Amino acid sequence: MNLIDGKKISLELQETIAAEVKKLKADGFKTPHLAAILVGSDGGSETYVASKIAACERVGFNSTLIRHPEYVTKEKLLQSIHELNNNPDVDGFIVQLPLPRHINEHKVIESILPTKDVDGFHPMNIGRMVLNLPCYVSATPYGIVHLLDKYKVETAGKHCVVIGRSHIVGSPLSILLAKNTPLGNCTVTLCHSKTVDLKSHTLKADILICALGSPDFVTADMVKDGVVIIDVGTTRVESTETKSGYKLKGDVKFDEVAPKCSLITPVPGGVGPMTIASLLRNTLLAAKKEMY
Ligand code: GUN
Repeated sequence: MNLIDGKKISLELQETIAAEVKKLKADGFKTPHLAAILVGSDGGSETYVASKIAACERVGFNSTLIRHPEYVTKEKLLQSIHELNNNPDVDGFIVQLPLPRHINEHKVIESILPTKDVDGFHPMNIGRMVLNLPCYVSATPYGIVHLLDKYKVETAGKHCVVIGRSHIVGSPLSILLAKNTPLGNCTVTLCHSKTVDLKSHTLKADILICALGSPDFVTADMVKDGVVIIDVGTTRVESTETKSGYKLKGDVKFDEVAPKCSLITPVPGGVGPMTIASLLRNTLLAAKKEMY
């Protein structure tokens, strides 16, 4: 078994981005600028947004964090988005999800200008991704495909099983991996909460993507020898082992599953850092106006 080191690959990607930013600035271009909107104070979202802002600093981007309280009105949130859409200094921005229940996520995402939607969540970007047109591919799916590429995992003709059909990970990733592209050409099975006899599918996977958000869900009896596993799960669970009082757990029961794998991502240090690097990459493309 070998570990897929997402942290290392993410830092490599960030170094490449930092070098490009340095050159852009030296050539007199403006500094790329990512903004993030954070609603409420959910611990997980706070951590993710703080990591995104810290990564901006590392690569030489400007960043802006806009905070709204949990009870913010839809109108106020849309006003913030409108301002960022029209701010020429901001190249791209994200609205950290999930949003409070009283706010319709789709309405919010659709109000983001597709050319500034560096999360790649807008229907325009998702539609263009499906059609193989230039677009912002959402960060986690792009990061996963990039990891498979870096570790030279053959995808053509392989059977990839994706567990979880979220708009953020499972659905777009299942499309990316089935495309007629160098990092696609998998036969993809997309499993979800209504799948009957899940194990009969996972046992056939050459590549297994676990993106359901249920700690320790995938056990050794569910996978075949030599499988490549990408664990997207990052659930916070209470822990007496850490100072913060919690730790992140993946969807895979790592200790018993890892020995059967040819490659597996750890949690943390696997997919998470790649999401951030991919977001920076999209922001750089937005700043260079290379996508649209
Ligand atoms: N919540 C969980 N993952 C993401 C992400 O990639 N982007 C945003 N905006 N929110 C998230």
